[in-house]
Order: sequence, then C-alpha cells, then structure tokens
Amino acid sequence: MARPRSSPALAWSAAAKSFHWGVAALILLQFVLGWLAASWRLSPTKLDLFVWHKSIGMLILALVVLRLLNRLATRAPALPPGMPAWERAAAHASHALLYVLMLALPLSGWIVSAAAGVPFRIFWRLPLPAIVASDEHTAELAAAVHFALGIALVALLVLHIAAALRHHFAKRDDVLTRMLPARTPRT
Ligand code: HEM
Ligand code: HEM
Repeated sequence: MARPRSSPALAWSAAAKSFHWGVAALILLQFVLGWLAASWRLSPTKLDLFVWHKSIGMLILALVVLRLLNRLATRAPALPPGMPAWERAAAHASHALLYVLMLALPLSGWIVSAAAGVPFRIFWRLPLPAIVASDEHTAELAAAVHFALGIALVALLVLHIAAALRHHFAKRDDVLTRMLPARTPRT
C-alpha cells in the first residue's frame, strides 16, 4: 500500500546523506583552516589560508541554504518509537541549533571580512560583496562573535556525535546506520 505523503520516510535520502557528510567534512576542514589562518605569522601563506577559509566558508553557506530547502521539501525519517519525550525534544532542538550555527558562522565571518575593509574574491575569482560598511569596531565585535559561535558549534558537535554513538552502541537502534552512505532508502 502506498505510504501517505504526510507520513515520515523510512530512511534519509541520498541527497540528505550527501549534504550531511559533505557539509560535515567541509566544516571540520574549516575549523583547521580558521585556526591555522588566525595563528599563522603575517606572510603570503597566511593570506592564502584566509582565502581558502573564507571561500570554503561561503561554499558551506550556499550548501546549507540548499540543504535546508531540500530538508523542508522532503520527508525525514521518524525517530525510533519508545524514545522518551525529552530525548525527542533534545534531538529536534539540537538539530535546529546546528542549522542556526551552520548559517550564523559563515554570516558572522562575512561581516568580519567586510568590516575589515579588505576586498576579497571567493577562490581568487568571484568578488564577495561587502555585507556591512568598513569599520574597525564592527570587525572586532564580529570576530569575537565568530569565535564564540565556533566554540558553541564544537561543543554541540561533541554532544551530537556522542548522541549518535549512544544510539548505535547503547540503544542499538538504526539512527546512526540509516544516516551512513551504504544504506539505501526503502521508501
Ligand atoms: C560538522 C559535523 C556535523 C554537523 C554540522 C551535523 C549536523 C546534523 C544535522 C543538522 C542533523 C539533522 C538532520 C535533519 O534533521 O535535517 C544531523 C543528523 C544526524 N547526524 Fe550529524 N552532523 C555532523 C556530524 C556528524 C557525525 C560525525 C555523526 C556520527 C558520528 C553524525 C550523526 C548524525 C546522525 C546519525 C543523524 C541522524 C539523526 C536522525 O536520524 O534523526 N553527525 N546532523
Ligand atoms: C562554517 C563556517 C565557518 C567556520 C566553522 C569558521 C571558523 C573559524 C575559526 C575556528 C576561526 C579561528 C578562530 C578565531 O581566531 O576567530 C575563524 C576565523 C576567521 N574566520 Fe571563519 N569560519 C567560518 C566561515 C567564515 C567565513 C564565510 C568567513 C568570511 C567570508 C570567515 C572569516 C574569518 C575571519 C576573517 C577570521 C579571523 C577572525 C579574527 O581576526 O580573529 N569565516 N573562523
């Protein structure tokens, strides 16, 4: 029998999995590039590291917007039955917060870059429009916010990964395996 349009899917689509793992890999790379770029001594290498960091950051922003559109247009699999209400609420809230941080990090970085007043081309080609006017105070404030958001994302990811491993090894349900690339959707 056909499943009603409103019922949850049984697994994540190939697109949802590709977005999840593609964006996850880019974000991990982005942390390495951000910390390297910020701590490197002033040199052409430092400037290159920043071009990579800012370019990949803008790519992440575009991918997360597409990911959210895809997520809103399709069905997501339901959480396993019998999960306590607080755990469901925590899962939904933490996923929503992950999306907020995945948007807020690149946006705050874009503000730092624009407020610093240095013209910038994504991957050395596409000029990035200034989102705010050049202003030293704004640049300092946005850099502090960018840093704090980065710490918040690391903390939330530790919880996110711990929760995924708990589902797999302690609760022994299919929450982790259904997000892994190998398993194809049955819908
Ligand atoms: C930068 C790294 C990561 C980010 C930003 C991230 C973000 C997210 C988000 C936003 C969702 C919710 C998907 C949705 O409802 O649309 C999700 C789901 C999920 N993530 Fe991650 N994730 C990351 C890394 C990981 C890692 C390393 C693991 C495994 C150890 C993992 C395991 C999962 C699983 C199993 C789900 C599915 C949960 C469910 O079925 O309800 N994630 N992730
Ligand atoms: C998911 C996306 C991003 C993540 C996870 C991220 C993370 C980081 C991290 C960890 C740092 C080093 C910590 C610090 O000293 O502040 C940093 C610095 C920086 N990022 Fe990002 N970033 C992202 C996107 C962007 C984007 C899109 C831009 C600009 C277009 C950008 C511009 C900068 C700048 C200018 C700094 C140096 C800040 C300073 O002067 O202290 N970032 N970022």
